Amino acid sequence: MRSALADVWPSEIRYHASIGSTNDEALAWVKAGAADLSVVVADEQTHGRGRMKRQWFTPAGSALAMSVILRPGPQEVQPGPAVAMRLTALGAVAVATALERYHLQPHIKWPNDILLDGHKTAGVLVETTWEGDRLEWAVVGIGINVSAGSLPPDDQLRFPATCVEAVLGHPIPRVQLLREILIQVAAGRKQLTSPWLWQAWQARLAYRNEYILIDDGVKTQRAKLIGLDENGGLRVTVEYGKQIIFTQGEIRPILEGSQK
Ligand code: BTN
Repeated sequence: MRSALADVWPSEIRYHASIGSTNDEALAWVKAGAADLSVVVADEQTHGRGRMKRQWFTPAGSALAMSVILRPGPQEVQPGPAVAMRLTALGAVAVATALERYHLQPHIKWPNDILLDGHKTAGVLVETTWEGDRLEWAVVGIGINVSAGSLPPDDQLRFPATCVEAVLGHPIPRVQLLREILIQVAAGRKQLTSPWLWQAWQARLAYRNEYILIDDGVKTQRAKLIGLDENGGLRVTVEYGKQIIFTQGEIRPILEGSQK
């Protein structure tokens, strides 16, 4: 695998047949002296983690689970709340762009889900370490459902899910998808401070100008999704056309005209 990726990725890639979580392994590697752009890849995760402490399902032989370790320089990140959003955007745009290389049409469901045909296919989990208010290390964890075996049982799904091969209609080598993603992460890394990243994200944003339900942890409300703000927040309009920016939360679509 390393030799198949050496021409696109300069740093060390550690492969594990089975591991708890590639993000945990990457955070441990950071403490043990990982270099910028080190990568952890696993065939199976026994304790894969998603957002909001949810479990992320990664059975052997069916998914892509990877974590990219980044040490952004001071010129690459501006301090402030947008940092984690930028890194999430980096991962989500990299996955979406890689899938487009297979002539698929992914959408990014704010903030961190990648959809194919409206079904969740991949997710991004960014974890960071800080020294005061300075970002030290970031781990960009990416999980992708590649073949049907990667899908969780129906009763564990919070949102309809699919896998790359079901939408594509044929199998793909996972190492080839990994290669495409690494190419896109390397390209996106160079754009961390540039408006290009927001534009690339916004261009693929799911449900634009559509009605959604947004749950910010306090309440769920109906809104029309407008787009992103300059910090990666979600701009929506609520009743009477009032605009609000959400910096966190979970969204799902509703049909126009629905009273829900
Ligand atoms: C989500 O949709 O909630 C994010 C899912 C992120 C899963 C990936 S798989 C690789 C990395 N290791 C983990 O434990 N989680 C991330």
